[in-house]
Amino acid sequence: MISQYQESLLLPARTFQSGSMDTTYEDVLEHVDSGILLFDEEGVLTFVNKQMYGMLELNRHSLLGCTMAHLLSHIQLGRFKKKQVLRSYREMVQKGKQSYEFVDEYGRYWRVSLCCGEQMKGSYLFTVKEISDYKLIEQTAYQNDSLAMLGKLSASIAHEIRNPLTAIRGFIQLLHPHLHQLGKEEYGRIILAEIDRANDIIHEFLTSSKPSVPQVSMIPVSALLKEVVLLTESEALMKGCQINLHPLHGDMIISGDVKQMKQVVLNMIRNAMEAITERDDDQIGKIEVGARREGAEVRIFISDNGKGMDILTLDRLFNPFFTTKENGTGLGLSVSDRIIKNHGGCISVSSRLNEGTRFVISLPLIQ
Ligand SMILES: Nc1ncnc2c1ncn2[C@@H]1O[C@H](COP(=O)(O)OP(=O)(O)OP(=O)(O)O)[C@@H](O)[C@H]1O
Ligand SMILES: [Mg+2]
Repeated sequence: MISQYQESLLLPARTFQSGSMDTTYEDVLEHVDSGILLFDEEGVLTFVNKQMYGMLELNRHSLLGCTMAHLLSHIQLGRFKKKQVLRSYREMVQKGKQSYEFVDEYGRYWRVSLCCGEQMKGSYLFTVKEISDYKLIEQTAYQNDSLAMLGKLSASIAHEIRNPLTAIRGFIQLLHPHLHQLGKEEYGRIILAEIDRANDIIHEFLTSSKPSVPQVSMIPVSALLKEVVLLTESEALMKGCQINLHPLHGDMIISGDVKQMKQVVLNMIRNAMEAITERDDDQIGKIEVGARREGAEVRIFISDNGKGMDILTLDRLFNPFFTTKENGTGLGLSVSDRIIKNHGGCISVSSRLNEGTRFVISLPLIQ
């Protein structure tokens, strides 16, 4: 049931005569750092400040005199903005909440507040403020607290995982003759290599204060990417994703520790698969993997059409223990970043919320 004031917000547009508000106050409101919209007791927009019409990407004159209904059908109002105006209206005017927070298409956080009722004599005052910085501080405080605890916990879990891995390794070796008979010894080789890699990761994590010495060899980029794609293809299929390995032109060779390099690419492909499964819609998941030469460097890219990231996530991506996943450790990218830096390279990332993410690893080529 909506009140007569609520209904008034949805009335059609009518002509507005400006000059009803004291110009001094108007000047002050014009320069505050929040967006302001004021609807009078008849639901007509009588004041909008610069911040607000800037946020809506509309000009002031096309807004003054509008009601909420008119604003929602404004032909110049962008689709995403329209959705947020409607949501704010529903949450605050219809459901009676005093504030409502949302993330915009660029991943920025906003808070809308509403002041109405008797104290406003029937007028509706909406204020909109960007709160990305507060959110960042809030998350940092939470993160610092949980960081110390998580560190201890993960170290003890990592230690315990080594025992079952040793048992699995032993039994796979015992199965080797049977796999040979079936012509599947390749599977045994992959399992052993993966167990060794898991053990190395745990070892590296447990001794992360002392950087491990890389086992340097020449690594052909095409072989590296093929192997990692082969490793992840079946998992990807089960998760409804397609991995497309782009054809690589010419032989590009890097120098480094092959296990560490595999770990980095694998971390990124796993993240891509997880980002795809976390997307709400039914879009087919696509992961593109490839590499190209750029002067004396190779740029290895891993891109996905998963859920993408907001700026808060992008800011903290490489921090140890930063994760947005229920079962994530938040170590994948921090370890990857350190490995790539140890190899004289760097990782860059670009992402858009609900569209996808692209990681690019730049490394020096030796030929
Ligand atoms: N391709 C991606 N798309 C969207 N978000 C991503 C992507 N890659 C990383 N992220 C974000 O970065 C965070 C950190 O990633 P990271 O790999 O370091 O840890 P994790 O995946 O959460 O846990 P794990 O230690 O199991 O890898 C993720 O929780 C996720 O929010
Ligand atoms: Mg990860």
